Amino acid sequence: MAIIGIVAIAKNYAIGKDEKLPWHYSSDLKFFKQTTTGNAIVMGFNTWKSLGRPLPNRLNIVLSRSGNIEPRPGVLLTRSKEEVLELSRYLKGDVFIIGGARTFETFADVIEKWIVTEIPETVEDADVFMPGDFLNAFETVDSLDLGDGLLVKTFHRKAVLM
Ligand SMILES: NC(=O)c1ccc[n+]([C@@H]2O[C@H](COP(=O)([O-])OP(=O)(O)OC[C@H]3O[C@@H](n4cnc5c(N)ncnc54)[C@H](OP(=O)(O)O)[C@@H]3O)[C@@H](O)[C@H]2O)c1
Repeated sequence: MAIIGIVAIAKNYAIGKDEKLPWHYSSDLKFFKQTTTGNAIVMGFNTWKSLGRPLPNRLNIVLSRSGNIEPRPGVLLTRSKEEVLELSRYLKGDVFIIGGARTFETFADVIEKWIVTEIPETVEDADVFMPGDFLNAFETVDSLDLGDGLLVKTFHRKAVLM
């Protein structure tokens, strides 16, 4: 089991606008589906509301201090980072942190690997951004061309030298 951040990010680090993704690329949605299917995905309450439904064939773990969700198959409501990490110990697959920005921030120190789709756009009027330094402790290990100018880069956490 690994804890993996997965994000699509514009040239200016934008990731959201009006509680939605500010772009539509089916190749990236397909890549996201292929990568996360069969595993667990962790999302903040805003992203949950924006999706409006659980993503199929994945355990949907939603994080919220006080929000409520009608019980339904495939969805687990959690109240803290610690609760998610405790739960992760019992999972066989990987745990993908899928956003948004506040949830990435919550898990920033435990993410071992980032999968980042670089969107070839600058979204001037976006309202949710990744911090400019979120990959500082990471190094690129792989790169995949999705077409349409989209590049997926995989980053591993750099080894800490003692
Ligand atoms: N480009 C991408 O790859 C991507 C991916 C996902 C989302 N997005 C976009 O990002 C935007 C949403 O991002 P966001 O930062 O506003 O919201 P978010 O991370 O989806 O949700 C934030 C909420 O999650 C809960 N939460 C976060 N950390 C928590 C913690 N440590 N303990 C308990 N609850 C916690 C809180 O819910 P409560 O307030 O209910 O307590 C918090 O208000 C949308 O525009 C969405 O489309 C983009």
